[in-house]
Amino acid sequence: MEALLVSYGIEWANLLVRWLHLITGIAWIGASFYFVWLDNSIRPPKPGSELEKKGVSGELWAVHGGGFYNPQKYLVAPAELPQELHWFKWEAYATWITGIAMLFIVYYFNASAMMVDKSVANLTGLEAVGVGIGTLVAGWIVYDLLCKSPLGKKEGLLGLVMFVFIVAVAYMLTHLLSGRAAYIHVGAMIGTIMVGNVLMVIIPGQRKLVEAMKEGKSPDPIHGRRGKQRSVHNNYFTLPILFIMISNHYAMTYTHAYSWLVLAAIMAAGVLIRHFFNLRHKGRVSIAYPIAGVALLLAVAVAIAPRPVAPIVPVAAASAVPAADGSVAAVAAAAPAAPDFAKIQAIITQRCASCHSDKPTQAGFATAPAGMMLQTPELIRQHAAKVFQRAVQTKDMPLANMTQMTDEERSEIAAWFQAGAK
Ligand code: HEC
Repeated sequence: MEALLVSYGIEWANLLVRWLHLITGIAWIGASFYFVWLDNSIRPPKPGSELEKKGVSGELWAVHGGGFYNPQKYLVAPAELPQELHWFKWEAYATWITGIAMLFIVYYFNASAMMVDKSVANLTGLEAVGVGIGTLVAGWIVYDLLCKSPLGKKEGLLGLVMFVFIVAVAYMLTHLLSGRAAYIHVGAMIGTIMVGNVLMVIIPGQRKLVEAMKEGKSPDPIHGRRGKQRSVHNNYFTLPILFIMISNHYAMTYTHAYSWLVLAAIMAAGVLIRHFFNLRHKGRVSIAYPIAGVALLLAVAVAIAPRPVAPIVPVAAASAVPAADGSVAAVAAAAPAAPDFAKIQAIITQRCASCHSDKPTQAGFATAPAGMMLQTPELIRQHAAKVFQRAVQTKDMPLANMTQMTDEERSEIAAWFQAGAK
C-alpha cells in the first residue's frame, strides 16, 4: 500500500511539474517569438522626425485585443533610464527548473527502467544518470567556448559547427542510453544552452547596460551585440527543442536503428522552417526553406516506414495442408496459421500486464502507463495494432525489456497480428 501511495504521489508530481513546465515554456518561447517578430518588423522612423531625434531606431504599430500598440526600439538605449523597466528572465529560469525536475521524476528516479537499454550499452542506472547530467554540463561549456572562439564572429559557420556538435551528441547518447532518454537529453542539453544564454550572457549584458546608464556613461554596444547573437541562436533552437519535448510519444523516431540521424533531419527541418519565418518578418518570402523542411520530413517518414515482418510459417501448419491442389498448398504455406489466442494472452499477461493493467504489480507504477491496459482478451484485441507496433516493430516494449520477452514471443505476436489479431 505504501509503495503504491509513493508511486501515486510521484504521478501527481509528474502531472503538476509537467503542467508548469508547459506553461512557463509557452510564456518563454511566446515572449521570445514576439520579440524576434518585433525586432524584424520595426521600421526606422522618418528622417528628421521627433522619434529619430529621441534616438528611436525603429517602431511599428499593431492592433491587438481591442487596443493599438506602438512599440519603439532604442539602439543602444534611451537618453534617460525609465522609472520602471520590465525584464524577461523568469519564464526561462522556471522552464529550466521544471524541466530538470521532470528529468528527475521521469528518468533519474527510475533510471534502470527509463534510461538503460542493455541492447545498446551495458550501463547501470547510476552510470546512465551520470551520462545524462554530464551531457548537460559539457554541452553548455562546449557551446559557450565555441561562441567565444574566433568562430563566434562567423555566424553561418558557427551555426553549422553547432549543428554538427549537437548531432554528434545525439549519436553518442543513442549509443549509450535508451532511445527515449537519448532524445530527451539532447533536448535538455539544448534547453540548458538556451537558459545559459539568458542567465550568463543576455541578462548580465543588460545589467551592464543599465549600470552604465545609471552612472551617466554611454553604454558599450558590445553587450547588446553579444546578447543579440545568443538570442538569435535561441530562436533557431526553438523548433528542434519543441519536437524533442514531444518526441517521447513517437516511438517510430527514437527506436529506429539510425535514431540519431532521424533526429538530425527533423531538427534541420525545424531550423529551415524557423528561418523562413525570420526572413518573412523582414519582408522576404523565401518559400524554398519551408519546402526543403517539409521535403526533409517526408524523406524521414519514407525512410523509417515500417517494413513488413517476414511471417513465420509453423512447420506443422504447412505440412498439414493436403497437397492435392498445388495452388491451395502454396497459399496455405504463405499465410501462416495464427497462433492460438490463449497463447498470445499468456504472453501478454506475463510480459506486459505487470505494468499495463488496471492494477499494475510492477513497482513504481500506480496506474497503467499511457492508460494502456491489457488484462483481458477484449483489451488485447482492441489494442492489437499498438501491441504489434511496440512489441514487434519498434521493440521498445516491454519497457527496458524488464519482463524479459523473447524474440520468439515477438514473432508469435507478429504472426497473430498479421493473421487478423483474432
Ligand atoms: C515495466 C513496465 C512496462 C512493461 C512491462 C510494458 N510496458 Fe508498455 N509502457 C510502459 C510505459 C512507461 C509506457 C509509456 C511511455 C511510452 O509510451 O513510451 C508504455 C507505453 C506503451 C504503449 C503506448 C500506449 C499509448 O497509447 O501511447 C504501448 C502500446 C505499450 N506500452 C505496449 C506494451 C506491450 C505490448 C508490452 C508487453 C510486450 C508492454 N507495453 C510492457 C511501461 C511498460
